[in-house]
Amino acid sequence: MTRELTVIVLAAGNGKRMKSKTPKVLHTIGGRSMVGHVLTAVEALQPDRVVAVVGHAREQVIGHLEQHHTGIAIAVQEEQLGTGHAARVGLAASGATSGDVLVLTADTPLLTGETLVWFMEHHREANRSVSILTAEVPDPTGYGRIVRGEGGDVRAIVEEKDASAEERAIAEINSGILAFDLDFLASALPRLGNANASAEYYLTDAVKLAAADGVRTGGYLLADRIQTEGANDRVQLAALGRELNRRIVERWMRAGVTVIDPASTWIHVDVDLGQDVTILPDVQLLGATSIGEDALIGPDVTLTDCEVGAGAHVVRTQATLSVIGDGADVGPFAHLRPGTVLGARGKIGGFVETKNAEIGEGAKVPHLSYVGDATIGEMSNIGAGTIFANYDGVKKHHTTIGAHVRSGSNVTFVAPVTVGDGAGTGAGSLIRQDVPPGAMAMSAGPQRVIEDWAQTRRAGTAMAEAAARAAAEGVLVAGAQTSGEHEESHTGGPGVGAADSRRSES
Ligand code: UD1
Ligand code: MG
Repeated sequence: MTRELTVIVLAAGNGKRMKSKTPKVLHTIGGRSMVGHVLTAVEALQPDRVVAVVGHAREQVIGHLEQHHTGIAIAVQEEQLGTGHAARVGLAASGATSGDVLVLTADTPLLTGETLVWFMEHHREANRSVSILTAEVPDPTGYGRIVRGEGGDVRAIVEEKDASAEERAIAEINSGILAFDLDFLASALPRLGNANASAEYYLTDAVKLAAADGVRTGGYLLADRIQTEGANDRVQLAALGRELNRRIVERWMRAGVTVIDPASTWIHVDVDLGQDVTILPDVQLLGATSIGEDALIGPDVTLTDCEVGAGAHVVRTQATLSVIGDGADVGPFAHLRPGTVLGARGKIGGFVETKNAEIGEGAKVPHLSYVGDATIGEMSNIGAGTIFANYDGVKKHHTTIGAHVRSGSNVTFVAPVTVGDGAGTGAGSLIRQDVPPGAMAMSAGPQRVIEDWAQTRRAGTAMAEAAARAAAEGVLVAGAQTSGEHEESHTGGPGVGAADSRRSES
């Protein structure tokens, strides 16, 4: 039978150096909180129980854990009296009675499940009472130093503040990740004192007690030391974030994704990429975004929680909570807001904004449009400059466009309105009423032309002079209909006044 495993994650400290309203362990890199990274690594151990010890800003931390990491017990450490005290609070809350206990801190976001499995295997095989995951660092300042005896066993961990000059020169440090035999830990925790430079109960003093009890402590040096590094301020957070990203991008390249510029490509931990996806420079794939095989993404694309189909092409686009179908085309300069669903082989083109819009298979919104609260049927084409006027100032309304609709340029659909299958709308139309299938709707009036308007209303201007030169040369526009008027009211102008131009036709 395998031994039981209890995991205690220490997350009660305040993280002062972050200088933040957000508790340190909730700061994120790679789209996941620091405590979330640690808890995700812990999952690889399939522990019997996990306890998070919280204290500082506990409401925020508890809220986060309840939302993202269900199944974790929470222990409250009222006062932060040290890591030994925190472990005691955690162990008491766990209800564990036998097996092993793994204690870790919540601020080592690059720690992997693989490392924890390796460490626990060593701990169990050696049948130790205490094991420490250690690392050698170029600058050990601030860390507990590993003091080894002959034979290599760890004799003590000495904290920076309590260390002699000789001890401070030791490069091997305590990662803060320790494994214990539960019986030993339970006997050691009440024996810890706080007679040290910080007046704290140090969990690390358990090592001295082990030596006094005649049980042995093993130290396991992890070569990939960045996994043991914590982010204490925002400079370290950014450095760890870049390294995490470098690792994620490298993993995807090894899995069959082409990344032209790894340094300007940011991929969150929960993103999923298909084979032969190509990512051009300056791309951020965030949240739970997934990209299908052979898709081409970038340059300059930010996708948050989006699903992109196989073979799609997305360029210079910002999209959130949207679906882009197989073989669809998006951008450049497109903004897909939540609820956009673009069908297979559809298109959302340049300077188009969409929101809560279902655009059918093969349907296109190619240029300069706003599509909000709408359904567009398959193979329909929405002309340049079309606006779906969805808001009446109080409520949002829906527009339904059928399949194979041809909508002219510069049309405004005033919701709620429905356009039937195979219908058309003329350029410049204001569509307020439903259009039956197969009908053509036009609301713009016939064009009205007032002859010699520039010469009479804009006499003496460059405009009038140009018109006069053209008249002298006898230039005429073939087929132009004119009203024959020479006077025009101040409120009118060229191109308005359908009634007048109708009169000129009669
Ligand atoms: C600790 C270790 C040190 C190690 C370093 C690794 C001790 C005494 N020292 O030092 O050997 O090299 O971590 O980063 O253990 N915490 C609580 N409650 C408390 C105090 C701390 O939950 O009362 C939590 C903190 O939130 C943090 C972790 O324990 O996640 C470590 O505490 P911190 O104060 O950062 O200890 P260090 O001085 O860094
Ligand atoms: Mg620390």
